[in-house]
Amino acid sequence: MSDIAEITVEDMVIDFPVGGGLFRKQYLRAANGVSLTLRAGEALAIVGESGSGKSTCARAIARINMPTSGTIRVDGAEITDPGFRQSQRDYAAKVQMIFQDPFGSLNPVHTIRHHLARPIRIHAPKLSSTEVDERIIATLERVGLSPAAQTADKFPYELSGGQRQRVAIARALAVGARFILADEPISMLDVSIRLGILNLMDDMKRDGIGFMYITHDIATARYFAERTAVMYVGHMVEWGESDSVTQSPRHPYTQLLISAVPEAGIRKTRERKAKKAEIPMRTPESRGCPFAGRCLKVMDRCHADMPPITQLQEDHYVRCHLY
Ligand SMILES: Nc1ncnc2c1ncn2[C@@H]1O[C@H](COP(=O)(O)OP(=O)(O)OP(=O)(O)O)[C@@H](O)[C@H]1O
Ligand SMILES: [Mg+2]
Repeated sequence: MSDIAEITVEDMVIDFPVGGGLFRKQYLRAANGVSLTLRAGEALAIVGESGSGKSTCARAIARINMPTSGTIRVDGAEITDPGFRQSQRDYAAKVQMIFQDPFGSLNPVHTIRHHLARPIRIHAPKLSSTEVDERIIATLERVGLSPAAQTADKFPYELSGGQRQRVAIARALAVGARFILADEPISMLDVSIRLGILNLMDDMKRDGIGFMYITHDIATARYFAERTAVMYVGHMVEWGESDSVTQSPRHPYTQLLISAVPEAGIRKTRERKAKKAEIPMRTPESRGCPFAGRCLKVMDRCHADMPPITQLQEDHYVRCHLY
């Protein structure tokens, strides 16, 4: 498989069985009609509250869980096709996830060198020990962990949170990642080192790496990602160019997220942006807009039909009956 230029998700639905009886199973619809494109050298931010289906969508792209329906294409080839299955290991190397808690994915009894050597040997079995080591050193340098030779001999607990997240990124790069699905990569880190990680990832875009950047924080989405998709309980409600989505948010839910962003030095009273209500659980039977129960601008039809997609600008779309 050559380098991937584009990963396209179309109309993806992901249901999870959550109980029910022998004859009538119950399902939770974690993703509904999700369509998005990841491009080499660019970042797409997925923003939304807890439970909105962000990780579920990333795991489907990483082939950790299977979509219930819909397609995932890699440069046009469907990844569920039998022909594609042969290049699964290659796909796994090129499309990698990194997680919120870098410590959780590192084994405390092994050095950083060991953590990088293992995946390199699996994905590039023909490399000699010297070549493996050279690659380890070069990758550690690339992610800003120099002097690399010293870092390689350290154990995970000897590194800071930010350094550990750099190791996780290095591990993805070492096996040739071209797309990184970063699931809240900075939310557990000290505020002071978050920017360093975002800047490193921004730098990697120039090497052609594409990102799916999952976050609760729409402010960092705008800083780091060219495009932003806002999700609410399994649905993409607004998406497009990050500047447009964050500067002129049109969906009441996006407006709510933006209003929650603290502005440096300013504390002003804000108008109420949403009703207090539980975040609903969606099932395959659910109808209407998932945000209807909290929306201050709700209309009758919001409870009945999922709004169609409205194109607001060249790259700005919303699903809301107001438009
Ligand atoms: N394996 C599973 N079985 C059953 N339900 C699941 C499973 N994985 C996720 N879910 C449910 O799917 C919904 C979406 O979960 P997901 O983890 O994708 O949300 P998220 O947007 O990543 O949230 P967070 O911001 O908390 O990480 C949630 O209601 C979750 O409980
Ligand atoms: Mg998640």
